[in-house]
Amino acid sequence: MKKIELKLGERSYNIHVESDLLKKIPEILTEQNHGQKWLIISQYNLMELFGFDLMMNLKEANFECDYITLPVGEAAKSMNEFSRIISQMIEMSCDRSTTILALGGGVVGDVAGFVASSFMRGIEYYQIPSTLLAMVDSSIGGKTGINIAEGKNLVGSIYQPQGVLVDPTILDSLPREEVISGLGEVIKYGAIRDVDFLNNISTWLDDIDSFPFKKAVERACEIKAEIVSLDEREDGLRRLLNFGHTVGHALEAHFGYGRLRHGEAVSLGMKCAGWISKEMGFLSETENKTLNQTIDKLTLPSVSKMDPNTILSYVKKDKKVRNGILHFVVLDALGKGNTTELISDKMIKDSLKVIQ
Ligand SMILES: NC(=O)c1ccc[n+]([C@@H]2O[C@H](COP(=O)([O-])OP(=O)(O)OC[C@H]3O[C@@H](n4cnc5c(N)ncnc54)[C@H](O)[C@@H]3O)[C@@H](O)[C@H]2O)c1
Ligand SMILES: [Zn+2]
Repeated sequence: MKKIELKLGERSYNIHVESDLLKKIPEILTEQNHGQKWLIISQYNLMELFGFDLMMNLKEANFECDYITLPVGEAAKSMNEFSRIISQMIEMSCDRSTTILALGGGVVGDVAGFVASSFMRGIEYYQIPSTLLAMVDSSIGGKTGINIAEGKNLVGSIYQPQGVLVDPTILDSLPREEVISGLGEVIKYGAIRDVDFLNNISTWLDDIDSFPFKKAVERACEIKAEIVSLDEREDGLRRLLNFGHTVGHALEAHFGYGRLRHGEAVSLGMKCAGWISKEMGFLSETENKTLNQTIDKLTLPSVSKMDPNTILSYVKKDKKVRNGILHFVVLDALGKGNTTELISDKMIKDSLKVIQ
């Protein structure tokens, strides 16, 4: 088993990555079982795929275990669902000792993590990510949250789990488009931090059916853990994880959440950010070409019908939420991310032509 430590003093925890790890969860958690209630928060389709087996195994190992499901889709990250879960937990007699197991993709992880951070002022939880995006990104680092009418993730907290349990074999049932979306975030890690990893990903993508997910997830988790350990609250280094996200978030908002997946939007955003890095004289033409060739190995939806002015208005809205400063992530070289505040509206608008 690969154990990656996320170092945050007393709040440090491990990210375990292992094939077939799901079956070993009772064994891994046994020392933490003091007779409390263990609550799986998931989605019904995922309960059928792996959740009911997990619950059975936990019960056989003397864990008192129950479950709650969320609907599928971004709509589950809502105030209504949040309060419904809290009420259901009270009905189930959950208390301060209850431990949550968040089994699912980023939607489940974000809501379940936020519930854990606020139920009776905070209870323990573990992330068991089931999408590639959740394995390499959303389950690590403690960002939790829900959406409100005014925007995405506007209510939330940074609340670290007790551990992250990753079983790459459960990606077998993940729909292809969701895999592609997660691969966008995997490419991001290579682009900002490790050029050899980026080159490996590029080679692996030539035969996507044999893609070594375990290897890729391990390296991505190492990079994310290192960055979060050094800058938990996103005052500096952690900003690099937003590579491709400025334009990416705007594309998601423009096309509607659910129509363009997060990782797909980020992949397109990385092409724009690569072009900007080249135009601003940070990244060489050849390196930008390599980045684009890698991203182009993913089948991405067409965004040719976008309106550049609308995209720009979303970028500006995002900037307002972030204290009015846009820390735009550029590449100084492949594997070397950096931020700049000297980016013009025109530059962002012009960059959109590379994805139209
Ligand atoms: N907290 C963070 O740091 C962070 C980072 C990035 C993204 N996010 C959030 O993550 C969310 C997106 O997460 P996502 O991309 O994982 O999408 P998701 O959670 O909506 O999952 C996508 C779909 O795949 C299904 N699914 C999940 N695992 C499966 C499996 N193994 N087999 C078959 N089907 C499976 C789900 O039921 C769902 O229908 C967004 O809300 C985004 O804001 C959070
Ligand atoms: Zn992302």
